[in-house]
Amino acid sequence: MTSLVQSLSALFGAAFTAEGLDAAFGQVQVSDRPDLAQFQCNGALAAAKAAKANPRAIAQTIVARLKAEPVFARLDIAGPGFINFDVTDDALAARLGAMAKDERLGAPMTGAGRTVVIDFGGPNVAKPMHVGHLRSTIIGDCLQRLFRATGWRVVSDVHLGDWGLQMGQLISEIELRGIAPVYFDPDCKGPYPEVSPVTMEDLEELYPAASAACKADPARLEMARRATVALQDGRPGYRALWKHFVAVSEKGLAREFGSLGVTFDLWNGESTVHDLIPPMLDSLKARGLAEESEGALIVPVARDDDKKPMPPLILVKSDGGVLYGTTDLATVIQRVRDYDPDLILYVVDHRQHGHFEQVFRAAEKAGLNGRAHLEHVGYGTMNGTDGKPFKTRAGGVMKLYDLIAMARVEAETRLAEQGLGADYTAEEKAQIAQQVGLATIKFADLSNHRTTDYVFDLERFSKFEGKTGPYLQYAAVRIRSILRKAELVSAAPAVLRTPEERAVILALLALPDAMAAAEDKRAPNILCDYAFNLAQAFSRFYAAHHVLNEADAGLRAARLALCGVTLAALTRVLDLLGIAVPERM
Ligand code: ARG
Repeated sequence: MTSLVQSLSALFGAAFTAEGLDAAFGQVQVSDRPDLAQFQCNGALAAAKAAKANPRAIAQTIVARLKAEPVFARLDIAGPGFINFDVTDDALAARLGAMAKDERLGAPMTGAGRTVVIDFGGPNVAKPMHVGHLRSTIIGDCLQRLFRATGWRVVSDVHLGDWGLQMGQLISEIELRGIAPVYFDPDCKGPYPEVSPVTMEDLEELYPAASAACKADPARLEMARRATVALQDGRPGYRALWKHFVAVSEKGLAREFGSLGVTFDLWNGESTVHDLIPPMLDSLKARGLAEESEGALIVPVARDDDKKPMPPLILVKSDGGVLYGTTDLATVIQRVRDYDPDLILYVVDHRQHGHFEQVFRAAEKAGLNGRAHLEHVGYGTMNGTDGKPFKTRAGGVMKLYDLIAMARVEAETRLAEQGLGADYTAEEKAQIAQQVGLATIKFADLSNHRTTDYVFDLERFSKFEGKTGPYLQYAAVRIRSILRKAELVSAAPAVLRTPEERAVILALLALPDAMAAAEDKRAPNILCDYAFNLAQAFSRFYAAHHVLNEADAGLRAARLALCGVTLAALTRVLDLLGIAVPERM
């Protein structure tokens, strides 16, 4: 189903073509002055430039061609040649009826037949997830939901950081502390104990200690490096110990992702591609793409037109260890082999932009990416109200679990303030608070353009007024309760004709365009804007009109139908944002 804007653009495009002009000039957009018109087409100005003609004259010929089309209620020319126009209420009603019948609510099928791998989350084994990984998780999850909704085959991969120096740091720390000597005994031929010698809590203490020790002492760092290389080379005791770290961490991570309502198709990690690395290196060397440099193996990726120096991608260090970029390059091979994707999205902090540029260039140079376009979807930092990266009150790194708990407590307070759910069971209240808390966090994150740094102000984002997650949840719950109270109306629905009604219909019909734009720009904030505008249009409509006690049955039926589609659209968009709507509040 094409959206209203798309069909209108097609009509205008045909009119431009009939005048011997490019159909692209017929692009229609929602008017930026809704008080003047519903839609506008500014193509006559650009067309006039290209054809060296008078823009107003072109606009006149276009309008003359379109006048007879029944869809238009009016077509006006403004200023130098802008075409402002409205669509008839009957046309809006017909469109709305079609949308109401469509399960997908007219969502575009941009991804039909296409596959995307979305790499997001990216937590590191043995380190608790913190707010740095939160943005990747929230944005990535929204993108996986959106791409699925527009027909893509989506493969999401958490891409655990499980193969780098932090593993060697931990292994050596455990050795030094004598916690589990069997894993270090060169005479031990296995099997190794099935129970992990360390818990997640142990890892949370061991890793920072190891990392600090390595920072302070070069010899200690060297020991960690050697342990990393030995792990990667397959030393059995180290591998066995490492497996325990991964298993223990995965359990903790699954719980955190689960509490966010986020799932992954693949729980792969950097280590998954270990066996693909030696053949990859051999082939890169044989093809002259990788070269030795000061004992390391590198792929030069600089180009003549680079404005900034572009360092080579280092594949193997002089000590034999492989790096983050090596596993990322091999992961491209694995994904192309297993899924033959059209697109791979990496939802990772924008400070890693240079890294991805190196990896993408190396992959493209070596033709490892198959048909896939490789794209880094970067994002900025989540700051505290002090403008610095978000921290705990004590100044430590905020763990995700604690953040969620904080938002839930805030939600409880707000719900109580509003007198919402006062007579519900404690269990239901807790569930609502959890959903509202998550909505607070997710909407705060998604409503800013992802590349900007934003201030996470729990106080502001947990409010039930303004552009917040809780406001939108509440808006949906209210519509649901209207519909619950409604009796079945058998009358044929009347055509809605008031400005407030039209505004809701127009907002609803823009859903496919909002989804397409959000997908195209990988920009969830477009969906947030959409949801907020729709909720506001609805609330103006509801303030101005009777619904449940409208005396005219046909009008009541039409308004109830409008409520129904609004609820469906709002719930759908919130779902794309990863936000659940409580049954009641
Ligand atoms: N583990 C990395 C980090 O914490 C993020 C991984 C992102 N994905 C990737 N394919 N490199 O920074």
